[in-house]
Amino acid sequence: MAFLPRCLAVLLLLGNTTAFHANRLFQQFDTASRPPRSGPPTKRDGGSMAPLKITNNCGETLWPGIGTQAGTGPGIGGFELAPGEGVDLMVSANWQGRVWGRTNCSFNAAGTGPADGEGPSCDSGDCQGVLDCVATGVSPATLAEYDLAGGNGNRQCFYDISLVDGYNLPLGIVMLPGSDPKLADVPPNLTNAVCIATAGYAAPPAPSGQNGGSGNTSFPIPWEPIQGNAQIASWCPWDLLTIQPDKPGDGVYPYPDDHIKRPTFDPCGSGCAKTNSPQDCCTGEYSDRAKCVPNMYSHQSNKVCPDAYGFPFDDESSTFVIPGGGGGGFETIFCPEGRSSNILKTFKQQLQDLTSASPAKLGEIMQDAGNLTIIMEAAKKMSRGERSRGELGDMGSVGALVVVIAWLVLS
Ligand SMILES: *[C@@H]1O[C@H](CO)[C@@H](O)[C@H](O)[C@H]1NC(C)=O
Ligand SMILES: *[C@@H]1O[C@H](CO)[C@@H](O)[C@H](O)[C@H]1NC(C)=O
Ligand SMILES: *[C@@H]1O[C@H](CO)[C@@H](O)[C@H](O)[C@H]1NC(C)=O
Ligand SMILES: *[C@@H]1O[C@H](CO)[C@@H](O)[C@H](O)[C@H]1NC(C)=O
Repeated sequence: MAFLPRCLAVLLLLGNTTAFHANRLFQQFDTASRPPRSGPPTKRDGGSMAPLKITNNCGETLWPGIGTQAGTGPGIGGFELAPGEGVDLMVSANWQGRVWGRTNCSFNAAGTGPADGEGPSCDSGDCQGVLDCVATGVSPATLAEYDLAGGNGNRQCFYDISLVDGYNLPLGIVMLPGSDPKLADVPPNLTNAVCIATAGYAAPPAPSGQNGGSGNTSFPIPWEPIQGNAQIASWCPWDLLTIQPDKPGDGVYPYPDDHIKRPTFDPCGSGCAKTNSPQDCCTGEYSDRAKCVPNMYSHQSNKVCPDAYGFPFDDESSTFVIPGGGGGGFETIFCPEGRSSNILKTFKQQLQDLTSASPAKLGEIMQDAGNLTIIMEAAKKMSRGERSRGELGDMGSVGALVVVIAWLVLS
C-alpha cells in the first residue's frame, strides 16, 4: 500500500533542483551493490546493523529528516523530536545517507502535507511537505552525511558535516562503535565533529563538556578558538540570510550593516544553494578543482566551522575517514554543547594512521588524542594565522564590509 506513493515521490524529488548536493567523494563509491531500501534492516542485510541515533538538544521541537542513498535505512524518513529527546534507530552496516533537521513544522493529522493545506510544512529542511521524508529536503540545511562502508573495498567509513547546502542548525556527530571492535578504542576527540554557527550557542573554549558531553578533560575535542558568539552572529553573508531583518534607511543605506540584529535562527543559504550555478556548485565545466574557486560563503563557513564541508572541493579538509563496514554508526546531535571543533587540522596525522589501520599504532594515537598540548598548540596556531590576516576579534564594521563586498564580487 505504502510502496506506490513512495516510488512516485522519489520520481518527483529527482526533478527538484533545490534538493541537497551529495558529497562528491561519496559519488565515487560503489552503491550498485547496495541499492537503497527504506528499511528497517532485517536478516537479509546479513544481520549486520549499525546504530543511528538522533538527539535534539535544542530548546525547541525539531523534525529530523533521514535520507537513504545506499543500503538499508532505518524504516523511517522523518519524525517529530521534542527538546531533550533522542531516538535510537538501526541501519544496515553498509548504509549511505544523511540526517538533517527541520524547523518550525506544522503538518496535517496524517503527516502528508502542511497543516494549512499549501506551501511547505517547515520553515527549513522541508521535504515536499511530508512528515516521513522519502528522499531528501530543501536547502538551506546543515547536513550530517554518512557512508558507513565506502572506499577500500567497502571497509572505510566516510562522514562529514556539510554546509554546502547552507546552514540551519548547530550539529554535532558522535561516533558510536556499535558492534565493531576496531572502533571500540578510537578516541572521541578524533571522531566527534561539531559545527556551531548559531549565535548564543557557542560555549567558551574548554577542554570538557564538548559535543553533547562526548568530550571530557581526558579527551578534549579540539576546538575552534576564535569564533565566539559575537562573530557567529554575523558570519552569514547578508544576501544569503533567509530572514532579512529590516534595514534602516529603506535598505538603501547603510548596506550591509552587521550592527543590525539578526534573528537567532536565521538559516544561511550557501552560494550554491542560492544560485544553483555551475560556478557556485562546482558542477559542469566547473567540476574541476582548478576551475572552481571557493566563494565568500565557503570562506565564512570554513571560519565558523573548520571541520565542516563548505565547498565541494573541501574533501581533504572536511571528510572524516575511519575504519568502516563493521557495525559502527553515529549519533547526530542538534544543538550540541560546546564549540565548533577543529579536529581535522589538529589530528590530521593521527586520523591518517587510524585509517591505515595498524592496530599497533592505536596506543600512540590514543596518547596524542588525549594530549592537551597538541590541542592547545593547534588552537594557538589558528589564532596566529587569523591575526596575521587581521581578522581576529570581533569583526569591526570595516572588516565586515570588506567581507561582504568581496563576496558580491566573487559570486
Ligand atoms: C572521558 O571520555 C572517555 C571516552 O568517552 C570515557 O571513557 C571516560 O570515562 C571519560 N572520563 C571522564 C573523567 O569522564
Ligand atoms: C579522545 O578520545 C579518547 C579515547 O576515547 C578519550 O578518552 C578522550 O577523552 C578524547 N579526547 C577528547 C578531547 O574528547
Ligand atoms: C520558530 O518560530 C518562532 C516564531 O516565529 C521563532 O521564534 C523561532 O526562532 C523559530 N525557530 C526556529 C528553529 O527557526
Ligand atoms: C604531548 O605532545 C607534546 C608535543 O608534541 C609532547 O612534547 C609531549 O611529550 C606530549 N605529552 C604526552 C604526555 O605524550
